[in-house]
Amino acid sequence: MSELRVHGGTPLTGEITVRGAKNFVSKAMVAAVLGDSPSELRNVPQIKDVKVVSDILRLHGVHVERDREAGVVTMDPQRVETAHMAEVNAHAGSSRIPILLCGPLVHRLGEAFIPDLGGCHIGDRPIDYHLSILREFGARVDKLESGISITAPNGLTGTQVELPYPSVGATEQLLLTAVRARGKTELRNAAIEPEIMDLISVLQRMGAIISVDPGRVIRVEGVESLRGYTFTALPDRIEAASWGAAALATHGDIYVRGAHQADMVTFLNTFRKVGGAFDIDDDGIRFRHPGTELKAIALETDVHPGFMTDWQQPLVVALTQASGLSIVHETVYENRFGFTEALKEMGATIQVYRECLGGGPCRFGQKNFFHSAIISGPTPLHAADIVVPDLRGGFSHLIAALAAEGTSNVRGIELINRGYENFEGKLEALGAKFETV
Ligand code: EPZ
Repeated sequence: MSELRVHGGTPLTGEITVRGAKNFVSKAMVAAVLGDSPSELRNVPQIKDVKVVSDILRLHGVHVERDREAGVVTMDPQRVETAHMAEVNAHAGSSRIPILLCGPLVHRLGEAFIPDLGGCHIGDRPIDYHLSILREFGARVDKLESGISITAPNGLTGTQVELPYPSVGATEQLLLTAVRARGKTELRNAAIEPEIMDLISVLQRMGAIISVDPGRVIRVEGVESLRGYTFTALPDRIEAASWGAAALATHGDIYVRGAHQADMVTFLNTFRKVGGAFDIDDDGIRFRHPGTELKAIALETDVHPGFMTDWQQPLVVALTQASGLSIVHETVYENRFGFTEALKEMGATIQVYRECLGGGPCRFGQKNFFHSAIISGPTPLHAADIVVPDLRGGFSHLIAALAAEGTSNVRGIELINRGYENFEGKLEALGAKFETV
């Protein structure tokens, strides 16, 4: 495990840049498999997830070239082929993206093999919606010892699906499968995150016919073939908000070049309610601690346009420094408060509850999950030895260590590389005091 020794207590100040969104770039890379000519994706960050998806595409015969500095990835899918199961399996547990390859691979090759998935441990993260969507299109899904095999001897045919919950991944699964299925597909209760809207834009450039109608309805008319695309990825609104929360927690002042207001409206409203200050211009957003007391708030995470679950963890660190009782109700993942244990060790006062607090009842209310938290602040944070639990929780621990008095050892920081480009370089640019151990 790689480790950082962090000397806290210094406000983070300065400027950093965010590039393309992790949760869009990986999906746009999968979409390239559907084309019959090469695609070019721009504004791609240097993060571990891009490497994992590039490797998996290469195993399937896609010629992938990356210009890391320029942030350009080109993908030529003209020689797509079935990968060796053992090679695909070597990627088991490294990412959740392979499940999205099902539709594109079945369209191109008639079959797909998907290894056991990875991703952050923030809940059960089932794939039942994905598999039932694939079956609705006429695919045969067989669970093997080490993964899932998908075949469609008669091809895939458009269908009507209503999701039990507006899942991001399941909506992407449907889009990536429907665009080349025979006939029309209708999806109700779809997710409409900005990253999904941009995936729809990518698919439209490739020749797909997709409409997004009021009330979370997406309609797709299948086409026989798609071509490659050129597209610039939207900026990573989770990374941008993470740096915003870091400015608040450390009494800092950070200009996040690339941050895009329209995708962050709900975060910005909440940031302002906590007492945080921000200035927006055409190139980015400057997030500042106001210099006066921060205020406690009640917050509920939700699907877009609500407050993103991925913003919750970094903001909770800032809420430990706000005056009064903050209430946070996590309604997207049932188990996303594990990271608060380390914050408590550092001096935060946080209680987690099974009940739905500070909002209406959610899917987890009757199920015994600790999915609400009450944070009592402000409490000074002190240094601790921490092992990073997951991507966003890990970044949050790092912020806490930077806000705390004293020297903390943060282990397992390689998890943070999955989604935060060059975060050590950015910390340095912001004046953070730390060493790699
Ligand atoms: C995406 O995960 C993101 N990951 C997550 O970001 C993000 O937190 C999440 O969307 C919500 O915005 C990627 O894009 C790679 P979901 P995804 O399907 O698609 C339940 C990060 O830190 N569900 O919208 O996997 C599920 O358990 C990561 O960058 C089922 O029950 O999320 C959850 O409670 C973490 N069955 C809810 O739906 C299914 O088959 C929402 O999950 C699928 C999902």
